[in-house]
Amino acid sequence: MRVLGFLAGVASATAVSPSVCGSHPETVPDCDKPDLGSCGNACCVAELSLSTAPLQAYTDTKSALMSLLSDGFSYVTGGDPNPGDDLRPYNVTKPKNFKFIFQGRHDAPKYKGPNADILDFAIYESGAGSVLRMFSLSRIHGALGDHGQNYKTLAFLAQKLESNSKPTPVHGCGLPAAATVQRASLFLQQRSVLDLSTPPSSSVCGASPTKVPDCDKPDFGSCGNACCLAELSLSTAPLQAYTDTKNLLMTLQSDGFSYITGGDPNPGDDLRPYNITKPKGFKFIFQGRHDAPKYKGPNADILDFAIYESGSGSVLRMFSLSRIHGALGDAGQNYKTLTFLAKKLDGSEKPTPLYGCGLAIDSEIQEYVQ
Ligand SMILES: *[C@@H]1O[C@H](CO)[C@@H](O)[C@H](O)[C@H]1NC(C)=O
Ligand SMILES: *[C@@H]1O[C@H](CO)[C@@H](O)[C@H](O)[C@H]1NC(C)=O
Repeated sequence: MRVLGFLAGVASATAVSPSVCGSHPETVPDCDKPDLGSCGNACCVAELSLSTAPLQAYTDTKSALMSLLSDGFSYVTGGDPNPGDDLRPYNVTKPKNFKFIFQGRHDAPKYKGPNADILDFAIYESGAGSVLRMFSLSRIHGALGDHGQNYKTLAFLAQKLESNSKPTPVHGCGLPAAATVQRASLFLQQRSVLDLSTPPSSSVCGASPTKVPDCDKPDFGSCGNACCLAELSLSTAPLQAYTDTKNLLMTLQSDGFSYITGGDPNPGDDLRPYNITKPKGFKFIFQGRHDAPKYKGPNADILDFAIYESGSGSVLRMFSLSRIHGALGDAGQNYKTLTFLAKKLDGSEKPTPLYGCGLAIDSEIQEYVQ
């Protein structure tokens, strides 16, 4: 069966790299974890245990990225600013003993160049070996589903490192959302009701995040880079929620926000014709950016949004990813960006963190308290 599947994949996709799921994912190994909108767009966070120490694990993974050019992989460095990959001088111990961080890309035939999927990696020490945290994000706006490509990309790379193990999915990768929903209700109960004041004008945490509201959820490497996935309940129906959020992105230009559309291919934002019911009744999907003074243009954080129906209202799923290579920490910026938007939509609500947003540190602190 396996051989037949393999041959079918080859026949239907000549000249396509074996790292690509393509139009017949059922015939390609490791394309069995399709994701739908876990990061607004489709995404996958997975971890791979390695017997090698962090430095060796870093060297091997970076070499693999650089040697798999014909399979669409590449290693990303340079630019301005140009953070290094070596975290060892910073003695990071929480939430993990992170030693290296780096970025890559994965091209597929229809999605390459500026549309290539983003890969973020962080390596932490674990016993005598290491854990490679791997993240793949469908890059183009409107990418609700990935046909299994994000997990496939990570599994393909993992095979080049240690042939016998597969990366373990942590978030996205088609994992059921049950765990995160429970977590959400916990946070809803704990949510403060003291946020009715009008927010200050700045959407940036900057150099003194402790002095800026909502910069209290710094993240470290949850997506290889820092990231935050959060949800906001809205009383408006999906179409209205979409119109309001999109308008907001377009009007908050001086706060660094923008709305992304166009390009080739150019998927639309309206998911209603597809009658999606699982894992959520997704109705709209769209993308934005958030510039901060040092991180703008190609380094601007990526924002992905998906809206699903909930009763007579909607839920706005919001995702912010620190864009530049080497961004282990965000000084609270990803959650701040989403909260800044949320307050303009519904002044009484803060988005509920679901993944990233410093949750890994929070849960460690809770363990200490108990
Ligand atoms: C990290 O630890 C080393 C060795 O203990 C020390 O010399 C160095 O100053 C520390 N660096 C930071 C940024 O704390
Ligand atoms: C979605 O539902 C509508 C109304 O029931 C139907 O006309 C349409 O064909 C469906 N579209 C898809 C892609 O299934």
